[in-house]
Order: sequence, then C-alpha cells, then structure tokens
Amino acid sequence: MIIANFKSNGSEQMIVRWVQDFISNIDNNHTTLGIAPPYTYIEKLERLLSDANQNNLKVGAQDVGVGSGAKTGSVSSSMLADLNCNFAIIGHSERRKIFNESNELIREKLKNLISSKLTPVLCVGESYSDFENKKTLITIKEQLNECLLDIHIPQDIIIAYEPLWAIGSGKTPNPTDVNEINEYIKDVVQSATSNNYVPSVCYGGSVDVANAGSFFDCSNIDGALVGGASLDGKKFALIANEFNRNN
Ligand code: 13P
Repeated sequence: MIIANFKSNGSEQMIVRWVQDFISNIDNNHTTLGIAPPYTYIEKLERLLSDANQNNLKVGAQDVGVGSGAKTGSVSSSMLADLNCNFAIIGHSERRKIFNESNELIREKLKNLISSKLTPVLCVGESYSDFENKKTLITIKEQLNECLLDIHIPQDIIIAYEPLWAIGSGKTPNPTDVNEINEYIKDVVQSATSNNYVPSVCYGGSVDVANAGSFFDCSNIDGALVGGASLDGKKFALIANEFNRNN
C-alpha cells in the first residue's frame, strides 16, 4: 500500500487541488492507496474522492487517541470509524518525539484501532546515532516487541519502517539495506505476536518520484509512507503508478 501522510499541512483549497491533480495523473486500475490528511479535512476529502469515483483510495488518520471520555483534545478510534476512516497511523517518530509517546501508549492505541476494526499503520525506525552505532535492528526490535506485546494482530496490519534521519532530509538508506531490515521486521513481528502473522512492511523517509522505483523493486518493501512528496497530488499519483509497474 502507498500511503500519503500530509502531517500538519493543507487547507480546504489545497485538498480540492490535490484531488484534481491526483485524478489527472493516476493510472487506471491502481492498487489500493491510503491518504491521511489532518482530521479536519477527512470528510471533505472523502466526499471529493467519492464524487470522483476514486473508490480505491482509502482515507485514514495520522493518529488516534486512547479510549474516550475525559481526554480533552483526543479523537477516539470509534470516532474515526464513524468518519469512515479505513486506517490510522500510530507511533510516527514525530509523535514519539514532539508528544513524548512511548511504546506502551502506542500499544494502547493499537488495541483501540483493533477494537474499532481500523487498519493500524505502525511506524518504527532508528535515530541517526543508532544508525551510526549499528543499533538499527536492536532499536526496531525493542519498538516492535513493546508495541506488540500480547497483541493478536489483525491480518491487515502494516508496519512502516521510517529511519528518523531519512524523514524530510532528502537522504535515503540504500534500498537493499531497507529490504533486509524489512525482512527482519517481518520475522520479529511474526515471533512477537500471538498469531504468528507476517505483516506488510512499507518504507518511509524522503520517498519521491525519482527514487520510489528503487524501493519498489525490492521483494520485502511492500509499499511506502510518503510525507513531503504526497502533498502534491500529481507526485503522489506518479509514485503510485511506479508501484503499480513493479507489482
Ligand atoms: P518525508 O517523505 O517528507 O520524508 O516524510 C516521511 C514521513 O514521515 C511519512 O510518514
């Protein structure tokens, strides 16, 4: 799956333009795509996509709260389900860093998504210092083990491997290395969960039109989580077209 993460970007005007640019450039019969705008634009985007018969494009959220009730500012998984969201991203490194989210909290979010039957897109990834000190696999294993402890994962779960140093930097790891890391992630998830399921694993971090194909050529890279380049409907469509050609 190719997923657009708009982060805290966009406006009413941008969403309208995005859909027009996307539709003008996407190939017919494209694979299932996901798009995660800010909460406030979810309904508008769903309406525009439905009017344009773009039923292969699923709308999701960039995060989810834990439970409901006295939690000011929090949006629960059942509210996302009411909005017809299909998936939600959890554990993004920006949430871990800026909002101090721990693996334990992310695990609670995961449980909430599972109970509302939303597809979880769980992000993991190492810092630059972990990368330099060759601790990538240790960090990822710890994140996965703590986030997935005792969880009976749904078959549709997606893990997104996003090295922190590649996000928004224009730097990317070697696709062959990502392929090996994704294979490792599949193994760890399979042993960490109670139902031995092997998940889809995407790559995220400075994916753009020029480099997308080099990732999609790799057998263990099952898609991409795209930030900056996804803000342009045309670029996102071209990345999705590249994925179609490789799958
Ligand atoms: P960029 O594609 O802008 O590097 O962002 C990646 C990301 O964080 C997607 O979740």
